[in-house]
Amino acid sequence: MFMLLIFIINTVLVASADLKPGYYSKTCPQAETIVRDVMKKSLLKEPRSVASIMRFQFHDCFVNGCDGSLLLDDTPTVLGEKLALSNINSLRSFEVVDEIKEALEKACPGIVSCADIIIMASRDAVALTGGPDWQVKLGRLDSLSASQQNSSDIMPSPRSNATTLINLFQKYNLDVKDLVALSGSHSIGKARCFSIMFRLYNQSGSGKPDPALDPDFRAELDKLCPLDVDQNKTGNLDATPVIFDNQYFKDLVGGKGFLNSDQTLFTFPQTQGLVRLYSIDQNEFFKAFVEGMVKLGDLQSDQPGEIRKNCRVVNPRPAPHVLY
Ligand code: HEM
Repeated sequence: MFMLLIFIINTVLVASADLKPGYYSKTCPQAETIVRDVMKKSLLKEPRSVASIMRFQFHDCFVNGCDGSLLLDDTPTVLGEKLALSNINSLRSFEVVDEIKEALEKACPGIVSCADIIIMASRDAVALTGGPDWQVKLGRLDSLSASQQNSSDIMPSPRSNATTLINLFQKYNLDVKDLVALSGSHSIGKARCFSIMFRLYNQSGSGKPDPALDPDFRAELDKLCPLDVDQNKTGNLDATPVIFDNQYFKDLVGGKGFLNSDQTLFTFPQTQGLVRLYSIDQNEFFKAFVEGMVKLGDLQSDQPGEIRKNCRVVNPRPAPHVLY
């Protein structure tokens, strides 16, 4: 009975938490410093890792809200999201989140959710690579389950065009400006040849490359990703892949976007103006990016949650009790 009570107390049944800045200021005042310190170490050890973690915010928040569901490993009964279509062989650096969680559990056991770790660490990835810094709202709970199917159904393909992306983002209360600014996250990080083979050799079934590609850049990409390449080989998402800046947008204007989903933002009239604006005004980009990240972080789950002890598994449930 006691265990059951503890379980009920630990599992908040109304999931829509009130998110606010400084949520852990009394219960774990060091939380944000701990996260930033581990991220700093990770950036020094492997610069790409912080980009990989920032991507988690997108892939977590679009699938049933920002609830850390992305971080769950497969179990015999639940297929996790790590092996969903857009994530398999692609999402990486989960071990950095483990390291953050371990440090937080040592300092303040059972207080800071994995969902909030993703939000803090994503902000830190941007701030530590030269981008804007901002206050994040916290107080999210971790999901009790995951959905590989939802993730596969929802997360957009690198083949997507601007219209598809505008429509998808609209469903999440993210407008055209949010879409273009958030795509600027590709200012850091890398992608696989796998994500651009169609674009280089068979755009829209034409048997030809994407005509929007700058010819010199196309030659570079052909060299990076020849037809017989190991498609896990990676290339930079923009020309300055470890600095968060507006180079990504300059590249798009020059026909040097890596992914089709990036280049299409310049080819389509609805998004072209914003790409141009951000390519010449980095401050406007940073402002819009922060707004977009806050809105993305506001997407909430409507399911019950908990504070996981280990981000990869839900907390052990008490054995069912018969009540007399
Ligand atoms: C607009 C729709 C988007 C599409 C279609 C898209 C697609 C992709 C693809 C295909 C990759 C490379 C995957 C691979 O080849 O393994 C990638 C990487 C990345 N994405 Fe996106 N993405 C989008 C939006 C976002 C957003 C909103 C964020 C963050 C807020 C984000 C952050 C990243 C980062 C940082 C990387 C590099 C990760 C690394 O180096 O490990 N993306 N994205």
